[in-house]
Amino acid sequence: MRRRSRIREFLAAGVVLLSPTWSAGDSPDPAAVERGRVALTSTGYLKPGWSGAAYRRAGTLWGQNAPDAETSADDYAAAFNQRYGLHTAPYPNDGLPMGLRRAGQPGGEKTGMQIDCMVCHGGSIGGQSYVGLGNTTLDMRALLYDLTRADNRRLPPSLFHLNTARGTVNAGMISAVLLSVRNSDLSMRKIPLPLGANLPELDVPPWWHLARKTTMYYDGRTDARSVRSSLQFFLAEKSLEELKELEPTFRDILAYFKSLKPPKYPFAIDPVKAERGKTVFAKNCVKCHGTYGPDGHYPNRLVELAVIGTDPERAHGLSDRLVAHYNTTWLAEDYPADLEKIGYQAPPLDGIWATAPYLHNGSVPTLAALLKSADRPARFTRPPSTGFEHYDPAHVGWKFDVVTAPPSPPLPPFEAQFIYDTSRFGLSNAGHRFGDSLGDEARSDLIEYLKTL
Ligand code: HEC
Ligand code: HEC
Repeated sequence: MRRRSRIREFLAAGVVLLSPTWSAGDSPDPAAVERGRVALTSTGYLKPGWSGAAYRRAGTLWGQNAPDAETSADDYAAAFNQRYGLHTAPYPNDGLPMGLRRAGQPGGEKTGMQIDCMVCHGGSIGGQSYVGLGNTTLDMRALLYDLTRADNRRLPPSLFHLNTARGTVNAGMISAVLLSVRNSDLSMRKIPLPLGANLPELDVPPWWHLARKTTMYYDGRTDARSVRSSLQFFLAEKSLEELKELEPTFRDILAYFKSLKPPKYPFAIDPVKAERGKTVFAKNCVKCHGTYGPDGHYPNRLVELAVIGTDPERAHGLSDRLVAHYNTTWLAEDYPADLEKIGYQAPPLDGIWATAPYLHNGSVPTLAALLKSADRPARFTRPPSTGFEHYDPAHVGWKFDVVTAPPSPPLPPFEAQFIYDTSRFGLSNAGHRFGDSLGDEARSDLIEYLKTL
């Protein structure tokens, strides 16, 4: 990769010269934020992927008495959300949860269904839904498979694992596959390019991080001003011309992301402990995660794999060939992805209480376990919902049961998705051992402080 460095330096210099004087700290234009909010929450951008009936018929596939979709529509909607891990929409959405929406052919009646960004980026906690909170209960595979089967269509061949557990999703491989069937000019290819990507399923980061980040995605290889990188999701159907038409709208949507704020911790915080914890944080954590409050400074640090020690597959799985191909397309023309960096970006910790499980792969269920690696479970259950009855304010994160051995006989797919197994590809819970050397008292103070962010 070194041989590319001169070219990269040259490109990077060009990017610096060409980029507008705008830094991540500037607050976005309120008019753009409002346009972005409306564009994101009230518009569908994809053609219908399923019939409207697929939504109503999915319940017949559950192998149990689902409420009737016609006569008990509300009960059915609640059961549907529970089944696939979707959340009530906090904006008008025809009775559908975040992530699903009615769709039609241009100008036609909206008789079909499509998915949107919020299927992964719409979550809830304690019964309150938030646009931009990662969806930590989603079973993407079951959702897509059941809607397709409910339409009496054959399932597409599965080229990679969409998810083996609830809440994680392989968004990277979706992009990699879509990019492999496009040429550099984004025209369609019949034969996929061999790009060699092998990415794991991931936890979904909250959009409110974007207010502070200057580079984005877990590996920090993309400039956070890139609007076009968000358009990768649309490579499933859009032409280059159509993508170009969407760019101004998604520029507003990115402004909306940068305006989002995390929810506040809803339970009591001990101010004396939290103040002591702030000192522990200053000594052990600030250099990577920055400072908080009105004068907060975020260092935007990329940490090498050898130092962070967390699962390497996400960082390695984005192959050089894939990045190089992406960089030859219009998507990367303004902000090419970095070809050199291999590691993980230390994320901002704003609203960290609300985004368990932790690390890029969601392999650690609580902050207490993150900060004491000996307490991390190797195999654990994911919560049935994001209600506060499943939340653990002492350890900060989701309550879990330890599963000592792989279930035998294997569980049916639906139940199996409730078990997170850190021995699987990309799901290791190793690394980030920066809390291990703290005493129990200091660690507990630190956790109290983290609740205030
Ligand atoms: C299938 C689930 C899924 C869908 C659908 C999805 N995303 Fe994401 N998104 C993710 C995951 C997972 C990541 C983290 C990816 C990584 O870093 O490798 C992510 C990362 C991002 C980031 C970077 C956040 C950060 O802090 O670094 C942005 C911006 C983003 N998505 C925007 C969008 C937009 C806009 C849409 C809709 C057009 C969308 N996403 C649709 C799963 C999804
Ligand atoms: C050397 C830099 C470094 C230090 C020091 C460090 N961290 Fe981190 N931290 C990271 C990186 C990088 C990640 C992301 C790793 C990943 O996802 O694989 C991370 C992830 C986290 C996460 C999970 C974030 C999420 O959204 O899932 C938390 C919480 C966290 N760190 C807290 C702390 C605390 C508290 C301390 C001090 C005891 C600390 N870190 C010290 C670099 C650091």
